Amino acid sequence: MEHEDRVISDEAINPTELSLEKSLRPQYFRQYIGQDKIKEELMIYIEAAKSREEALDHVLLYGPPGLGKTTMAMVIANEMNTAIRTTSGPAIEKPGDLVALLNDLEPGGILFIDEIHRLPRVVEEMLYSAMEDYYVDIIIGQGETAHPVHFPLPPFTLIGATTRAGNLSAPLRDRFGILAHMEYYAVSDLTNIVERTADVLNTKTDQTGAIEVARRSRGTPRIANRLLKRVRDYAEVVGEGIVTEQIASKALNLLNVDSHGLDRVDQRLLKTMIELYSGGPVGLNTLSANIGEEMTTIEDMVEPYLLKEGFIQRTPRGRVATLKAYQHFNIPMK
Ligand code: ADE
Repeated sequence: MEHEDRVISDEAINPTELSLEKSLRPQYFRQYIGQDKIKEELMIYIEAAKSREEALDHVLLYGPPGLGKTTMAMVIANEMNTAIRTTSGPAIEKPGDLVALLNDLEPGGILFIDEIHRLPRVVEEMLYSAMEDYYVDIIIGQGETAHPVHFPLPPFTLIGATTRAGNLSAPLRDRFGILAHMEYYAVSDLTNIVERTADVLNTKTDQTGAIEVARRSRGTPRIANRLLKRVRDYAEVVGEGIVTEQIASKALNLLNVDSHGLDRVDQRLLKTMIELYSGGPVGLNTLSANIGEEMTTIEDMVEPYLLKEGFIQRTPRGRVATLKAYQHFNIPMK
């Protein structure tokens, strides 16, 4: 199955959706719902950096997609009162691209690199001295005339984002002074986010309707906002235009998002483990071949939520379906 088929796919795919996400984006920590621990820490470091008139130390944001890493980077920039340039690992192809980006920053400015684990090797190596001592050594000229030039940079903050900190090489990871693990959102926080989005969309929800959407959003704001739009369609066509619990529940069933927010990919993964492998242990590569999803997709986007909710466990010999998974599908555990 293509990712785009996944209703709860975590990629923002179309421009309307992107602009919606942007208009919904909180600008400051006081508007940012959830991630309380990260906010609390960052507020202290930001205040300290500002009072010393220094650049904030480099920040690594890691966690599953759709939890607001880009939004968090933008909030940090606003709180630091500085400009931010955003790019992604695969977009920086050559060392020269990186030098251009860094050289363009204002002193104390922020460079945000999404998917930082996908930086080309040569670019990553150039980041080491840039991050540590604000300089790069570049080679000017070719052949006989080639010589290294020491190139100082303005003090800056690198904010990197990745789905897993373990995807990064140790030398790069070690150069981030602030490591922030983004967590799945609690249903109460997601409910507030759904209500806020409904407001922007001019959609009426009653409280239990918002809770139902939140409950089925896999702890992920991007999914909550996407599901809300489909539920709104359903409410307008089939219901009275108001997102009630009953309307939300029916609309989400239609989308094959089940009572726990599991979508077809999650369901297929669990059912494969239970029905084909007696609940496991099953290796990641076997699962990948069976359900037709990349191993990295399963590891970074599917499994973390199933682990967190206790549907599967990881053992040294592979993945195991838990009693909760059996009960979810009404299958007796042998
Ligand atoms: N919209 C999406 N994510 C949000 C968040 N964490 N806080 C407020 N609004 C949001």
